[in-house]
Amino acid sequence: MTALITGASSGIGREFARCLGRLGIRLVISGRNRESLEELRQEIGEKQVKIITADIASKDECIRLYKEASKYNIDILINNAGFGLFGKFSDADLDRELEMIDVNIKAVHILTKLFLKDMIKRNRGYILNVASSAGFLPGPLMSTYYATKNYVVRLTEAINEELRSVGSHVYVGAFCPGPVDTNFNKTAGVKFAVKGIPAGYAAVYAVKGMMDRKMIIVPTALMKTGLAAARFVPDPLLVRATRFIQTKRRG
Ligand SMILES: NC(=O)c1ccc[n+]([C@@H]2O[C@H](COP(=O)([O-])OP(=O)(O)OC[C@H]3O[C@@H](n4cnc5c(N)ncnc54)[C@H](OP(=O)(O)O)[C@@H]3O)[C@@H](O)[C@H]2O)c1
Repeated sequence: MTALITGASSGIGREFARCLGRLGIRLVISGRNRESLEELRQEIGEKQVKIITADIASKDECIRLYKEASKYNIDILINNAGFGLFGKFSDADLDRELEMIDVNIKAVHILTKLFLKDMIKRNRGYILNVASSAGFLPGPLMSTYYATKNYVVRLTEAINEELRSVGSHVYVGAFCPGPVDTNFNKTAGVKFAVKGIPAGYAAVYAVKGMMDRKMIIVPTALMKTGLAAARFVPDPLLVRATRFIQTKRRG
């Protein structure tokens, strides 16, 4: 089996690579930071790992990544690359927000579509989209990030149903963690309102959920309970509660 992991140069993506590597799965790891990818390749083993650097904020780079990675017959795609940005919508930098939409939404959309077509033809394969618990909520002070993750959750649920309804063996699911200790906070300019879980634990939990073919994978009882309870809260109250929590995250 061969897995392609985007955003493997850091955080959860790096741990996905370590976890799948331990299972003996061949890896194609991607990101912009070649040095960090090379370090990971040396750690896991040169023979087991290929590197394709790509800036997936660009549509052309997504298509190039698909074409180059396809040579290795990808069985597992993990759409992990992504980032956040803290601040009021009216103040947030437009170019940075558009870059976030390109990476968190457009790249996930493009890579999912291209690899899914191949997997449907083979009637096998796994696509795991790394969303977030933010994907179930409106997110004042991180409005664009939350909205991008809502897109990923809804897209994944819809594709999952299209596949289920025709009895396909192809899996599509979404990993929706709460806070995870990575470089995410530094990039987004935030701190956590609650303690983050280790990235290694998050990745192992997600891989198990994928192998168990769960459509939505949420680690930790606290986050599961919180998200279940949020379903019963009216939207106007939910958005105020999220804003309250977000104000505690100012970095
Ligand atoms: N940490 C959390 O609390 C948390 C919670 C829920 C969901 N998530 C999600 O988990 C995923 C991984 O984030 P993380 O927490 O592991 O953060 P991280 O340590 O900052 O890693 C982000 C990864 O995304 C890659 N990336 C960013 N922009 C890219 C671009 N234009 N082209 C290619 N790769 C790009 C980075 O690689 P390069 O810099 O090498 O390009 C890096 O490997 C994200 O989708 C994030 O939204 C994180």
